[in-house]
Amino acid sequence: MIITSCGNSTKIAKSLAKKLKAKYSPLTISSFPDGDIYLKYNTNLKNKKVVIVQSFQPHSDMSLFDIIFAAETAKDMGAKKVILVAPYLAYMRQDKRFNPGEAISSRIMAKLLNNSIDKIITIDPHLHRYKSLKDIFTISTKKITANSVIANYVKKKFKKPIIIGPDWESYQWAEVIAKSVGCESTVLEKTRFSSRKISSKMIKHIDCKHKEVIIIDDIISTGHTIAEAAKKARKQGAKSITAIGVHGLFVEGAIKKMQKSGVTQVLTTNCIEHKTNKIDVTPLLLEELKKEKR
Ligand code: R5P
Repeated sequence: MIITSCGNSTKIAKSLAKKLKAKYSPLTISSFPDGDIYLKYNTNLKNKKVVIVQSFQPHSDMSLFDIIFAAETAKDMGAKKVILVAPYLAYMRQDKRFNPGEAISSRIMAKLLNNSIDKIITIDPHLHRYKSLKDIFTISTKKITANSVIANYVKKKFKKPIIIGPDWESYQWAEVIAKSVGCESTVLEKTRFSSRKISSKMIKHIDCKHKEVIIIDDIISTGHTIAEAAKKARKQGAKSITAIGVHGLFVEGAIKKMQKSGVTQVLTTNCIEHKTNKIDVTPLLLEELKKEKR
């Protein structure tokens, strides 16, 4: 097995290689003066399983392009299987044509990957209108959830927290983690007017006064979703407000925006490398890749 990366998830890639006793061989990726991509493997791939570890952030567009070039080149060089480990899989939120003429990006992304790789392993992909990855992928898929590692972290670091999911879909993380921790939880009802304008309501009331409130979501992008939930907890007199995201994209000043709304601490898993990474998903990926070594 050869483990490589296109540059976004090198820490996880190296750690997986070490634990699997597999060779880590970085790709050389650069561009020609005109901007055309240049990609080169630096090891022999004949009859090897090639694992490309690459989160789709930063630069989701280039990541997709790099992965396709890397996968096609691996096959061309005689690799027997190409596995993509994408701790964060982008383009999943555009899962329908919301307005006439729009691209259904998730389907296009999956179609491109279906053609170039043999298997995809990913963590908490944004499955909203799709029931499973099988709705868009024809290749072998493995969806892993970070719930267990997040729950362990919460158990270790918080005494008596309460958990809020900032929108309906977040029950998959908020409720499951609250159950494992053994604490109270609620999920809010969110209305999205645009990518940057949302509002939310607390339907099932939860008392935040003097409590350690944890808001958990799969993705923190602009931070608006978390900020709206934080405002509610702050209004009720929460003692502290921690935001936990599986995938911290943090665009357009997300962290400052959340802090302004009362968030006291922001934590993420290392699905996307960032200084807020406190929760390690490597053991979950390791377990899955060990099956490929048998
Ligand atoms: C979408 O429904 C996701 O689960 C997140 O709630 C959303 O992507 C967060 O985006 P933002 O941080 O821009 O509000």
